Amino acid sequence: MCGIIGYTPAETNQGVIDVILDGLSGLEYRGYDSAGVAIADSSVSVFKREGELSELESAVPRDSLDGDAGIGHTRWSTHGPPTDANAHPHTDCHGTVAVAHNGIIENYRALRAELEAAGHEFDSATDTEVIPHLIEIALEQGADAETAFRRAIGQLEGSYAVVAVFSGLEGVYAARHQSPLVVGVGEDGYHIASDVPAFLEHTDRVIYLQDGQFATICPSGVEVTDERGSIVETSVETIAWEPEDAGKSGYGHYMQKEINEQPRAIRDCIRGRLSDLDGTVSIDELGGVGRPSAVHFVACGTSYHASLYAARLFRDRGVPAMAFHASEYDADAVPLDNEALVVGVTQSGETADTLSALRGANRAGAETLSVTNVVGSSASREADHVMYIRAGPEISVAATKTFASQQVALAMLSDALTDASSRGSVEALRALPDQIQSILDDSRARESADTYADADAYFFIGRGYGAPVALEGALKMKEITYKHAEGFPAGELKHGPLALVNERTPVVAVVSGESKSEKMLGNVKEVEARGAPVIAVTDSAGEVQSDVDDILRVPQTKPRFMPILANVQLQLLSYWTAHRLGRSIDKPRNLAKSVTVE
Ligand code: F6R
Repeated sequence: MCGIIGYTPAETNQGVIDVILDGLSGLEYRGYDSAGVAIADSSVSVFKREGELSELESAVPRDSLDGDAGIGHTRWSTHGPPTDANAHPHTDCHGTVAVAHNGIIENYRALRAELEAAGHEFDSATDTEVIPHLIEIALEQGADAETAFRRAIGQLEGSYAVVAVFSGLEGVYAARHQSPLVVGVGEDGYHIASDVPAFLEHTDRVIYLQDGQFATICPSGVEVTDERGSIVETSVETIAWEPEDAGKSGYGHYMQKEINEQPRAIRDCIRGRLSDLDGTVSIDELGGVGRPSAVHFVACGTSYHASLYAARLFRDRGVPAMAFHASEYDADAVPLDNEALVVGVTQSGETADTLSALRGANRAGAETLSVTNVVGSSASREADHVMYIRAGPEISVAATKTFASQQVALAMLSDALTDASSRGSVEALRALPDQIQSILDDSRARESADTYADADAYFFIGRGYGAPVALEGALKMKEITYKHAEGFPAGELKHGPLALVNERTPVVAVVSGESKSEKMLGNVKEVEARGAPVIAVTDSAGEVQSDVDDILRVPQTKPRFMPILANVQLQLLSYWTAHRLGRSIDKPRNLAKSVTVE
């Protein structure tokens, strides 16, 4: 999982290095352990640095470096540790071609052995470095740059998005297979990148490349071809994102901005999908999908928590439904009839485990649906159907607004596929953005965060619809604060975890909706008896108030929408705790936004 970018300016414009470096900052969420650039002129100049992009920026002589085309890369290591040498781009023996790559080349060992036996010298431990050497061989055999590039790509097995520049040539050569790549059609030049934020400030006109396609961008235009080299007709789409969508807009961190964007994200998610008059939900993209006989959700991390929530929604409507960790899913082990639906829930649409689970479901003959945020992502193409959550770009590694939008999208999905909606439900969905805004305006999460920031560990508990969101609250807390945090269905506490509870382990209890039951209040008392401070996320005052140490309030809604509101307080609690502890909030250690390896 890495970010790659390429750019060729139209004739009268220069500034290649600035466009590449600025573009990389829009891709840093895809990886940030090292970065590099290559600028092609009469020769190829390469600069690479271990560490965050700022390290590279201080190493690059911006003022004296320019050329006809450039590529860049921001890395999250898979083959070889993050070092200057392993950072991309990589070059051939003569420095004629430079290559940046996102993905994994599965046959690189065999290729490297052959290349080394033929006398090629390698500088890195990466799988990527075989590509420039394969290109070098084709060039030596007399191939032109495009043919050499195509011949090298043809020898790769695995997943890749690749960009290359050659000395003395104006173009950027690109290919994709199972890793994302999108072309930006600008007035001042042509861009190509793993994701739109890399060039959004220059253009909102894009061409999504498909698996097996090649693209060449040069000053005069873009040419897309298939594996055989035949020209492919493509359409230029205008995307609805604004440039400031990819910036911090004055917030301290992308995560804070994205938490605050949730009212708008949810408005976008429900737009055009609800009918107030008859209380129905309709999702145009779903076409002929009917009531499923059963539903399997496959997802990872935060998306898995959204899936646990969704599975419960379907079960409550009489449809057998289960959520699976995508990495553990075996479509053949849990047979499905032909009216069953397998739903891949993935914000990025590029999570390898989820894609692999979807492919398994396709092979087993199930009908498949992807619920994703990224138009044109791999997940949107792997499944028979796709539903977009419309959250807009999420840059912070920790998923926040996309989780809210997933919950809302999945709630609408369950209503639409089971014909279970009602006017009251539509009204409650429509009220969510304002209710979230009121939480954002009045939250006391920062005070609670300050009070408990030196805790040894945090526990999160909830029941029913409150259980998945308790797991999500704990994931967010551990991810950005590096504190030990665990989430449990509240009833599970006494079966083991209670042994860890003491006065230095605050317990965050979701005591809202059906989670407000006597049983839940009993669980709160259990932890209090062990001396743990309790922070209640609640829509009620009376019975809870007297029993807990801190209250984080949420407005009342239908029980099944309660976790969407409760989660906002949990996000804020984690955010302010990480803030207090001075953590790297948008880029937590060891993590990356898009996990494209299994
Ligand atoms: C946590 C987080 C991850 C992702 C997981 C799946 O904040 O972001 O747990 O939810 O890596 O990613 P997607 O949804 O892109 O498949």
